[in-house]
Amino acid sequence: MDMQLLEKGLSAVEEAMMAIVDSDVNVLYDASEHILSSGGKRVRPRVAFLAYLAAGGNEIEQVVPMATAVEMVHTATLVHDDINDHSVLRRGRPTVHSIWGRTFALLTGDYLFAKVYQMMAPYGSRQNVIMSNACTRLVEGETLQATAAKAGEMDQETYKEVISRKTASLFEAAARMGAIQAGADEALENALAEYAYNLGLTFQIVDDILDIIGDPETMGKPIGTDVSQGRGVMVAQNGHAAEMVLEETAVSAPNSVEQMINDLRESGAVQLARFQAQRVAQRAREALTAVPPSPARDEMEDLIEQVLNRDS
Ligand code: IPE
Ligand code: IPE
Ligand code: MG
Ligand code: MG
Repeated sequence: MDMQLLEKGLSAVEEAMMAIVDSDVNVLYDASEHILSSGGKRVRPRVAFLAYLAAGGNEIEQVVPMATAVEMVHTATLVHDDINDHSVLRRGRPTVHSIWGRTFALLTGDYLFAKVYQMMAPYGSRQNVIMSNACTRLVEGETLQATAAKAGEMDQETYKEVISRKTASLFEAAARMGAIQAGADEALENALAEYAYNLGLTFQIVDDILDIIGDPETMGKPIGTDVSQGRGVMVAQNGHAAEMVLEETAVSAPNSVEQMINDLRESGAVQLARFQAQRVAQRAREALTAVPPSPARDEMEDLIEQVLNRDS
């Protein structure tokens, strides 16, 4: 039953996203449609629904606008992130800025963000404040990352702070808002939030590992972006080795990113990063022990393994 509700919720999110993009300004409509219809794992709305179900909720429609809002925030940040990262491929398609240019990509991201107010309007002030804080932290995380990367100062501590804000905060908010919607008590709400926060950290560390060892075809986005821009788990976790690799490749211009990737693949940095991902994944598992058993909780447990083992 629970899992049928989950699937129902997720397909309602697809419909809601397409329905809310209704601008008569063509470029906003076209660019939004381009990014929203290109797939994506929809892991954040999944977390929102699962938290709601695990907390005993059974009217999935109640969570649909909020789960949609979460995915819209995420999508907006991807459009902006790809401008910042000079990335040309997203979800297997050319990025919005590479088709429409930077100006319209910025505006498309703004447009998607603006729609979040509308989707959040039916909810109470607590959920709205949670959403607003998550957005603030996300922007702070991206800013801290850019600052540290520019200065060549992406150490372990900064990295943790960056991924906590840019990625884990939205996962946490999704679960917390779902739990609140189900009327969870404080302890349960916090357990679900703790789970999602650590799942988000795991998710980002794995993303950074895939930036080195992943297949661009499978992921639908380029690899090597992080190291070439002085950030990500490799640069932080294996600061010294990564630094040497970066220095080395600064002199050998042409295939330098390729060289960096190869060197990192062989440096043991991947092993260390996987170990780090395992550690935060374990915290997510532990948080679930405070959640009453249910099919939704089982699914949340499986999701940890899926995130750890994903290749896209
Ligand atoms: C990409 O997120 C950005 C990160 C936080 C790593 P996803 O990997 O969830 O992207 P989509 O939505 O599936 O494309
Ligand atoms: C995640 O960082 C971006 C946000 C949380 C907005 P990345 O830069 O690693 O995401 P990808 O790799 O481009 O998907
Ligand atoms: Mg990026
Ligand atoms: Mg990445």
